[in-house]
Amino acid sequence: MHVLIVGGGGREHAIAWALSKSSKVDHLSCAPGNGGIAALAQCVDIPATDVDAMVAWACENSVDFVVVAPDDPLALGMVDALEAAGIPAFGPRADAAIIEASKSFSKRLMEKYHIPTAKYQTFTELEPALTYIEAQGAPIVVKADGLALGKGVIVAQTVAEAQDAVRSMMSGHKFGDAGARVVIEECMTGPELTVLAFCDGEHLVPMPSSQDHKRAFDGNQGPNTGGMGAISPSPNYTPEVAKRCMEEIFLPTVAALRAEGRPFHGVIYFGLMLTPDGPKVVEYNARFGDPECQAVLSLLDSDLMDIFLACRNGTLDQVDVRWKDGASCCLVLASGGYPGSYAKGYPITGLEEAGQSAVVFHAGTRLGENGSVLTSGGRVLGVTATGPELNAAIDGAYAAASHIHFQDMFFRSDIGRVWNPNA
Ligand code: AMP
Ligand code: GLY
Repeated sequence: MHVLIVGGGGREHAIAWALSKSSKVDHLSCAPGNGGIAALAQCVDIPATDVDAMVAWACENSVDFVVVAPDDPLALGMVDALEAAGIPAFGPRADAAIIEASKSFSKRLMEKYHIPTAKYQTFTELEPALTYIEAQGAPIVVKADGLALGKGVIVAQTVAEAQDAVRSMMSGHKFGDAGARVVIEECMTGPELTVLAFCDGEHLVPMPSSQDHKRAFDGNQGPNTGGMGAISPSPNYTPEVAKRCMEEIFLPTVAALRAEGRPFHGVIYFGLMLTPDGPKVVEYNARFGDPECQAVLSLLDSDLMDIFLACRNGTLDQVDVRWKDGASCCLVLASGGYPGSYAKGYPITGLEEAGQSAVVFHAGTRLGENGSVLTSGGRVLGVTATGPELNAAIDGAYAAASHIHFQDMFFRSDIGRVWNPNA
């Protein structure tokens, strides 16, 4: 099969790496791809959000199956457009991807189907929102409704901070249309973790749990990022918690989307908080997380293409989805200045040495002259190691990363070692 992967980050490199091991896949393409993906796939210079150009390229190049990995093309209906052109794809259609694209939609869905989540109200007018915050008190959480590059959430410690956040989202249009509607919700407490689950519209298969580290610096300090590292599984995800999540959250979510006429095919990302009242949903995403994907897929022991096809065809109950024992750790190496501004184009050394003991997924890289690899983004690499238990995986990732160098490189030194990485 000729398979096209849409996207160009560490997550897409991990998907390409897993698919390259499938006997069903004989030709991989990736748009736009990156310097590491280029070793496994033909990189095609089309932006991930250009639906028309992607569909046209897939048609002209006899693509048999497309994996749509990032959030924006899913929300834009890339899967719908591909299907309309007769090309099957992995990922939800726009009417199901809305669980990520609209927080107010997913809050309503959870309320209607009694899926545990923070209490909330949705507002489109400023004054009632300010009054509600005053009445509820702080801490309180303010969220822009739409996709806001992970930056549309303010956990406010005071009423004034929350009101300012609403003002800037609604009046200042800080997030464009994403801020025209605002969700205000109760502030929950407890450890956070992620469970990614394969879905075929009806059946659901959870992957091993994982834990992202969203803050830029050690000890959960500094600005929020796309994720500075991930471990899998999360030590907080005990069998008892897993059972409750399956019964109270995962199965009800898939059934709810089906009942609403929006069957979900793809990966549902359950962002969870283990509160004193039990596990609750912080957020849904409609895709693999990045860097959770790199950590989790390192543990996959089945053919990913078989799983993707089953998710599309509604036959996930017939696939044996196996995982390796042990644990994994993905350590992100970032450009100095990220998540703010940073320089690009620095040469990267030590990739081969690091690759002896870990898998180095590329995120922001491009190929330079004579086979050199250059930095081209904020998150540059995800050094991913596995081990018989978590500490071995963490040590393995750090040991491999010690070979790698580029100017102004920085990384967290406590991935997997802090109790609540997203606090
Ligand atoms: P989100 O983009 O919805 O995942 O939110 C980003 C981060 O904000 C989450 O990872 C949590 O750490 C925090 N957060 C979101 N909603 C809540 C909530 N209701 N209570 C406490 N923290 C929250
Ligand atoms: N790592 C968080 C996300 O992909 O949304």
